[in-house]
Amino acid sequence: MVESTKNATLTVDGQSFELPIYSPTAGPDVIDIRKLYASTGMFTFDPGFTSTAACESNITFIDGGKGELLHRGYPIDQLAAESHYLEVCYLLLYGELPSATELEDFESRVTKHTMVHEQMHNFFRGFRRDAHPMATMVGVVGAMSAFYHDSTDITDPWQREVAAIRMIAKLPTIAAMAYKYSIGQPFVYPRNDLDYAANFLHMCFAVPAENYEVNPILARAMDRIFTLHADHEQNASTSTVRLAGSSGANPFACIAAGIACLWGPAHGGANQACLEMLQEIGTVDRIPEFIARAKDKNDPFRLMGFGHRVYKNFDPRATVMKQSADEVLELLGVDDNPILQVAKELEKAALDDPYFAEKKLFPNVDFYSGIILEAMGFPTSMFTPIFALSRTVGWIAQWKEMIGDPALKIGRPRQLYTGETFRDYVDVEDR
Ligand code: SDX
Repeated sequence: MVESTKNATLTVDGQSFELPIYSPTAGPDVIDIRKLYASTGMFTFDPGFTSTAACESNITFIDGGKGELLHRGYPIDQLAAESHYLEVCYLLLYGELPSATELEDFESRVTKHTMVHEQMHNFFRGFRRDAHPMATMVGVVGAMSAFYHDSTDITDPWQREVAAIRMIAKLPTIAAMAYKYSIGQPFVYPRNDLDYAANFLHMCFAVPAENYEVNPILARAMDRIFTLHADHEQNASTSTVRLAGSSGANPFACIAAGIACLWGPAHGGANQACLEMLQEIGTVDRIPEFIARAKDKNDPFRLMGFGHRVYKNFDPRATVMKQSADEVLELLGVDDNPILQVAKELEKAALDDPYFAEKKLFPNVDFYSGIILEAMGFPTSMFTPIFALSRTVGWIAQWKEMIGDPALKIGRPRQLYTGETFRDYVDVEDR
C-alpha cells in the first residue's frame, strides 16, 4: 500500500476529521475513508461508484481524459500492433513481458489445456438449441467447478494457477461449442497445431465433412480483437468478479458471475446491440432520425457503442478496432458493406453534433467490433461471448491480485435507507 503524504479534513457539525490521502503512480489521488463510519457514524454515498476507488491495483490504468489505456504500463495501441493475445495474457497475469522461453512455456501450458472434460458435451445437451450462447456460457463456466475439483481451492497458489490456465485455455473451446450447439453442428475439437485465435476460428467454422483452412489475416484480426478486450480496470464485470471472489467463491464461479454481468447491453452486450442498431438504421439517410432519438430525453433509445463511464475523450481501443475493420472488410471484399458505411456516417454525424460533444460521447470499443465479427461470419449472438472469452484473462488477473492480497476482506457495501422505520405487524382482518 502506498504511504499517505497528506490528509483531507472533513468538518461535520463543527467537528473535524483527518482522512489520509494517497497519491498513486498515475491517476487521481484517493481519500481513505475506511475509518469514516467508525469516526463519524456516517457513510459515503456513491451509487454507480462514479467517485470511488474500490481497490488498489497495478494491472491496468485508464486515463479517460487522454484516451489512454495501459496494461502493466504498456499502451494498448502498441500491444495491439506489436504483441499478441497470449503474450498480453502473460503480461496481465505476471506483470512483465515474457522472455522467449517464458512465452513458449506459457503458450504450451495453455495449448495443453484447450480440451474440456468429455462429460461437458452432455452438459450442453441440456440447453435448448435456441439458447443465447451467453446463457450457455454462464451455465457451462459455472459448471466447470463441478468438473475440475482439483483447482477450486483458492488458498492454494498452485490451484489458483491451474484454474487460471484452464480458463484461458478452455473459454474459446466453450464459446465455440456454444456456437456450434446453437446452429446444430457437431463440436469441433481444439487443434494444438493452431495458434490461439486460429484455433478458435477453426472450432467455430470447421465441419467434419471437409477441410477448413483458417485465413491468417482473419486470425490476426481475431487475435487483435481478443487483445483489445483483455482487461479494462474496474469495469462492471471485473468488479462483479472481485466481489464474488471476496467471499472465497471458487474461480470458476467468479468468472461465471463476470460473464453474467458482461451480458448487459450497457456493458459487453453493447456490441450485439450496436450492430442490431446499425442494421435497424439500415441506410445513411435514416441516421438523423436516430441521432434525434438519442438526444430526446423522453426516448430511452441510446446510440449503442457510444459513450463510456471513464473515457470522456476517444476510446483508444475503438481507434485500433476501426483500422482493423477497414483491413478485414477490404480483405473480404466487403468494404462497401452498407453497415460499415452507416457506422462511419453515424460516427461522423454524432461527432459533429454538439449534444455528443458536450456529453463527451465518443465511439467505444463496441462500436466497430461487431462490424468485424459480422464480416467474419459470426452471428450477433456470438459477439458478447467473444468479448467474454477475451476478458477472461483480465477477470482472472484482477481476481488473482485480490486473492493474493493479505488485506482481503469480503466486499460489503452499506446503503442510504429511506424505507419505513419500525412498525408492528397488523393482522389481515385489521388492514
Ligand atoms: C463497455 O467500464 C468499462 O470499462 C466498460 C468497457 C470494458 O472494456 O469493460 O469499456 C466495455 O461496457 C463499453 C460501453 C458499452 N456500452 C454502450 O455502448 C451502451 C451505450 N452507452 C451508454 O449506455 C453509456 O454511455 C454508458 C453506460 C456506457 C456510460 O454511462 P455513464 O457514464 O453512466 O453515463 P450516463 O449514463 O450517466 O450518461 C451521461 C449522459 C446522460 O445524459 P444526461 O442524463 O446527463 O442528460 O449522456 C447520455 C445520457 O443520457 N448518454 C447517451 C449515451 N450514453 C450516455 N446518450 C445517447 N447515447 C448514448 N450512448
